[in-house]
Amino acid sequence: MKQEILDIFHRRHACHSFVPDRTIPREDLDFILEAGRLSPSSFGLEQWKFIVVSDPAHRAALQEACFGQPQVGNASHVVVILAKVADLAPDTDYVQGLLAREYPGEALAPALVNYRQFHAMTDVPAWSVTQCHIAAANMMTAAAAIGIDSCAIGGFLPDRIRELLDLDPERYAVALILPLGYCADPVPAKQRLPLSDLVEYR
Ligand SMILES: Cc1cc2nc3c(=O)[nH]c(=O)nc-3n(C[C@H](O)[C@H](O)[C@H](O)COP(=O)(O)O)c2cc1C
Repeated sequence: MKQEILDIFHRRHACHSFVPDRTIPREDLDFILEAGRLSPSSFGLEQWKFIVVSDPAHRAALQEACFGQPQVGNASHVVVILAKVADLAPDTDYVQGLLAREYPGEALAPALVNYRQFHAMTDVPAWSVTQCHIAAANMMTAAAAIGIDSCAIGGFLPDRIRELLDLDPERYAVALILPLGYCADPVPAKQRLPLSDLVEYR
């Protein structure tokens, strides 16, 4: 079991070129999106929204907005992960509803006070984006577990992406672009610093 999980982490890699015209079945795509949906989030506020782009012309436009990176154009599907911004204001129905679910009964009032304070002192778009990155990581791992490749893309022009998808900048920040498909190249060996460089036991 442990080794199987580690094998999935080794298999997941940043794919720079997908096999064109090989399409992910809808059932597998839904499985990957479900892994995103089930991700943990700060205050349980599920800060993400997923826009799945499959139309080749739209993928080509997204590729251009990602500095021409080919893996965006030749992926089977491109998931644009959006980070909620306006919805996260303390008085929205969205926050009130989700906090009531996370903090039932008498726990709600102090949680709202706490959240209001947190929201006022936080860079909300940046915080929201960090939550989306957790969902993205889970989606990439889930994809790798069923033989589907991915590449996290942070190199993009956010204004151009918002323009292409007709998004209100007050409402959403663009968190990450996630092309998915079947990699044209073999899985490379992982290059990572050893744990001894990263971990301190105290
Ligand atoms: C937030 C984030 C943004 C990234 N942006 C890009 C990108 O724009 N283009 C790209 O080719 N790879 C991108 N990557 C992939 C990394 O370069 C890659 O994960 C890293 O080199 C480690 O390699 P591996 O994923 O194959 O193990 C990004 C990764 C992360 C986590």
